Amino acid sequence: MSEEVKKGLLGIVVDETEVSKVMPEINSLTYRGYAVQDLCEFCRFEEAAYLILKGDLPNSIELRQFEKIERGHRDLSKNLYEIIKHMPKKSHPMDVARTAVSVMGLEDKETTDNSQEANTRKALRILAKTPTALAAFYRIRKGKKIIKPKKELTFAENFFYMCFGKVPQKEIVKAFDVSLILYAEHSFNVSTFTARTITSSLSDIHGAITGAIASLKGPLHGGANEEVMHMMNKIKKPENALKWINNALKKKEVVMGFGHRVYKSGDSRVPTMKAYFKKVAKLKKDKKFLKIYDIVEKVMISKKNIHPNVDYPTGPTYHLMGFDTDFFTPIFVISRITGWSAHIMEQHSSNKLIRPLAKYKGSKYRKVMLLNQR
Ligand code: COA
Repeated sequence: MSEEVKKGLLGIVVDETEVSKVMPEINSLTYRGYAVQDLCEFCRFEEAAYLILKGDLPNSIELRQFEKIERGHRDLSKNLYEIIKHMPKKSHPMDVARTAVSVMGLEDKETTDNSQEANTRKALRILAKTPTALAAFYRIRKGKKIIKPKKELTFAENFFYMCFGKVPQKEIVKAFDVSLILYAEHSFNVSTFTARTITSSLSDIHGAITGAIASLKGPLHGGANEEVMHMMNKIKKPENALKWINNALKKKEVVMGFGHRVYKSGDSRVPTMKAYFKKVAKLKKDKKFLKIYDIVEKVMISKKNIHPNVDYPTGPTYHLMGFDTDFFTPIFVISRITGWSAHIMEQHSSNKLIRPLAKYKGSKYRKVMLLNQR
């Protein structure tokens, strides 16, 4: 057996999937065969969620049924609201999301049923409840009253409503919805692979999603959208951007929101998200971050040939929408629950325990000496 080490599983194909296809050579991404750009243009997030979970776009009756179930599961148990109220106010909301999904697993009657039918039902419950848990924490830590979900609102509208008490203008909701569609699925990224690895021991969907949230939190993965905002806040104004980025490159710093393990000449999701970032900046009459965005991007491409990834435009877009910076990655979570769930179900349907090998480089064989002889 070859002992060649492939750090980070670089270039290794570990399984097959029908959920999405990333095509870096043509900067393209499809969910179940549909281009994400088309899904963003013609669908709401709920339709994309249905597609990812069930394999096909819904017709209007199927969508209505799907939404009825999702909306019906949005509210949390009294117990979970209480637990969230007692969480330290300084907790990172990603840790709150992770804990909330874990508690949902304790409360779900079907936790141990790993059938496709039960998993589909559980996925929808997790998708419906996680935004409520996050919004409740959003309000509680600001000393505000929790706002319960509203059944007549779409998934995106309801999240704004639960966080801010109102739904913004439709262009803002659309931009948010587009970001959810773009974040929903991306093949074998690290959090999805984490979810599949957990699943491969025949563990359950709540556990797999809990682990995936922990994985997404890291700044090299989902956490990058928050880091982008910290970077933009450090830069402060467009006049500082050129000096800042040149200095960062001189110091060989990792510039957040740039680079990708798979895309090497541009992330397929960026042009769509950038267009919506521009729309939001125009509506909010605040183009400061857009100008910083362009300057940093230009230098990164011209000097390093490193292109932005989707976290680069989503960070400042969420900021302009009014979300706290540490809520950017949790927004990624509420969308990616769909992709994770589809992969968890795919893993269950043709499972093989994921168990790679390691090349040992520790001490040679040693004999244990008795305590008084060491
Ligand atoms: N800023 C500065 N340099 C970067 C960079 C970035 N964001 N991304 C990659 N590079 C450099 C690396 O330092 C490396 O340079 P070297 O060959 O001189 O050592 C080269 O580009 C190749 O990158 P590599 O580290 O092999 O890419 P990877 O596939 O292992 O890493 C990421 C991909 C995403 C981890 C990496 O690009 C990164 O850390 N980006 C910032 C975090 C981020 O935005 N994550 C979200 C991803 S969707």
